[in-house]
This record gives sequence, C-alpha cells and structure tokens, in this order.
Amino acid sequence: MSYVSLTIDGINIKVPKGTTVLDAARQAGIFIPTLCHDPAIPRFGACRICVVEIPGMRNLPASCVTECTEGMQVFTESPAVIEARQTILELLLANHPQDCLTCERNGDCRLQDYAFRYGVKESGFTGERKNYPLDDSNPYIIRDANKCILCGRCVRTCNAIPERSVIDFGYRGFGTKIVTAMDTPLGESDCVYCGRCVTVCPVGALTWKPMAGKGRTWEMARQQVTCTFCDSGCTFE
Ligand code: FES
Repeated sequence: MSYVSLTIDGINIKVPKGTTVLDAARQAGIFIPTLCHDPAIPRFGACRICVVEIPGMRNLPASCVTECTEGMQVFTESPAVIEARQTILELLLANHPQDCLTCERNGDCRLQDYAFRYGVKESGFTGERKNYPLDDSNPYIIRDANKCILCGRCVRTCNAIPERSVIDFGYRGFGTKIVTAMDTPLGESDCVYCGRCVTVCPVGALTWKPMAGKGRTWEMARQQVTCTFCDSGCTFE
C-alpha cells in the first residue's frame, strides 16, 4: 500500500493513498463538521459545511470528497473557512423553522450544534420559505419536509438496500424535496419503517413517532436494534 504525507493544522500525518482529507483529519483527532457525509454510504459532497483551506487550490474544497496528496497543507479553521461555514449555516437557517425549543431533535441536531459553534444566531438571508404539511401518515416515522436540509443521507441509506429504495430527491430548484414514488405520504408507500433514515437524519426532518413528546434527547439512552425486515440483519442505534 502506498502512503502520502501531509500536514493538517500543522500536524504531520501519513495516510494511505486515496484517504480523504476528512478521514485524515479525523484520524488525527481534528474536528471538521459534516452534514451530508456518512462513512457507511457513498460520498456525496453536497452540503459543503466540511470545506477546508488548501493553499494552491482556488476554492475551498469539501474535505469529505477531496483526497490527500503528497505534501498537501490543510487548514481546517482558517478565517476563510469559518466565514464560509457561517454563510452555509445562514443559508440553511434562512429556510428552516426556528422552533428548536419544541423540536424533537433539540440537543441532538447538527444544524443547531454548528450554529452554536460558529456563532450563527440568525440568518441575514430572507426569501420564500418552505411550507409543507407534516407527514405522519404511518405509525412510526414523522416526516417534516420543512426541516429537511437535503443532505441526502436518508436517500442514500434507503437506496443502499435495493429491495427498499423507497425515497429519492424529487422536483427541482427551490421545490426540491425528498419524496416517495409518486410523492405519496410515507404511509401509502412501500416503506417498511426500518428506521435507518431516521437514524442518519442530522436534523429534525425525520423523527420517531412513538417517541414524540416522551422526553428530551438528554433524558434518553441510545440502544442498538436489529431490523427484521429481511435477512440482512442491519443494526442501528
Ligand atoms: Fe462534506 Fe457535506 S459533509 S460536503
């Protein structure tokens, strides 16, 4: 196996060729925020919150889809990086309900965490806002498309198992949202409620209906469960 050497925030690191900057940083214990990235599903590079500064590169590349090269220098929290992340967060919050106090994911939401970390209290961007009805058409999962940040983690997780593949991106531009076939409510789709989409959602767009109003995140313990829909034996928390 061939290796490349690079520095991230001044720390020298040697990683196997093909390693992404994000994975290299994590190996070195360096924090980089992520929203659309999940190591268990294909790379996507959509949300851009993981951008870093690499001298010689014109733009700030997304670390989750940028591979390390020999001699690379990476800065994960330079002023330009922080400004870019603040702008991304402001853009996301411009079209996101500001109901954190009553949201089921309060205290367990990456958007909330990162807004706090980067000091984003409000959005300077104003414009049209999404106004979709809540989908609670089934016994297990509540879908709130108004809170969806279109990171695609639910879609890629659902589609990773071909016999499921129940949801996908639908429509275009501002109207883009996650839909079932024919955009029916989840209760009328082929969804078997395995819940993998709920476990990977980084915000409050997908939540467990049986848990609604039962307690705050910090009052509950996580448990590993196994889906019994097929013989794959998928486990998740
Ligand atoms: Fe890298 Fe979303 S986490 S682009």
